[in-house]
Amino acid sequence: MNFDRHRRLRNHPGIRAMVRETRLSTDQLMLPLFVKHGEGRDAVDAMPGVEHLSIDALRREIHELSELGVRSVLLFGLPHTKDDLSSEAYAEEGIVQKAIRAIKEENKEIAVATDVCLCAYNPAGHCGIVRGEEIVNDESLSLLAKTARSHAQAGADLIAPSDMMDGRVAAIREALDQASYQSIPILSYSVKYASAYYGPFREAAHSAPSFGDRRSYQMDPANVREAFREAESDLAEGADMLMVKPAMPYLDVVRALKERYDVPLAAYHVSGEYAMIKAAAQRGWVDEEAIVMETMTSLTRAGADILITYFTKDVARILQR
Ligand code: PBG
Ligand code: ZN
Repeated sequence: MNFDRHRRLRNHPGIRAMVRETRLSTDQLMLPLFVKHGEGRDAVDAMPGVEHLSIDALRREIHELSELGVRSVLLFGLPHTKDDLSSEAYAEEGIVQKAIRAIKEENKEIAVATDVCLCAYNPAGHCGIVRGEEIVNDESLSLLAKTARSHAQAGADLIAPSDMMDGRVAAIREALDQASYQSIPILSYSVKYASAYYGPFREAAHSAPSFGDRRSYQMDPANVREAFREAESDLAEGADMLMVKPAMPYLDVVRALKERYDVPLAAYHVSGEYAMIKAAAQRGWVDEEAIVMETMTSLTRAGADILITYFTKDVARILQR
């Protein structure tokens, strides 16, 4: 009898490890953090384990992260005030600006990425300037560029625009260059779908739209060729890294971008993906640790170099032992 014995390489754990094609490392992980004014920590209902951190709580979090070997964080802010011009997004004493400076005081080894968007900073809850029912593209660009520059001034190491306005990467690159921040990289949320998986995040960031939805600027979940056009323009405008978001439902898009472009690629495992795993695990329906590691392996196998995940601390803990 002649047939292939695939099982030969599956018997011994040492041999399984030796022939494993995809390996995870803590270096890949980026932890999204929500920062707030005031004191203490507040739980986020739909994201068990995720909290809004005051600056003091953030300082403690940073120490915990460095002990776990986590190399980078992605900051989201909960501002004091929301106004039509999203002023706190680019205020020197804005919550994100304060958080960046605090992290830098605690530990310079942690790379600080900042989400650049306006939706948490204006009462309409949209990612650009609103006029009537329209999200106005070109006028939003200067505010986004100001926000990015102000993050850089506060000490950010990586700028991540998530607004999906056309031309934002060019506007941000130009503003950074003019302020002598030529060496700060841009991680563009290039391929960001209008997704129901952002639900828990909008609760967490108090950024749900007050009217309408985000379909006039975020991508249609049905499209993949359009992802190339988004990536193409972001790279031409000066993006250094690309992102696909959400992650698990869009693994085909991750793979497609990986094959087409040579820049580092991030996958954002978003709030709804996190919440679904947590909810099932809390009921005892799935094994949380096993599901999380399988998920992160899948994202990496599909082609993601960088994993943005609320499970970062759990994954780092598992990899540490
Ligand atoms: C805001 C922003 C969103 C997320 C990251 N930045 C929400 C949205 O666009 O509605 C989603 C993150 C998550 O769901 O974990 N521009
Ligand atoms: Zn936004």
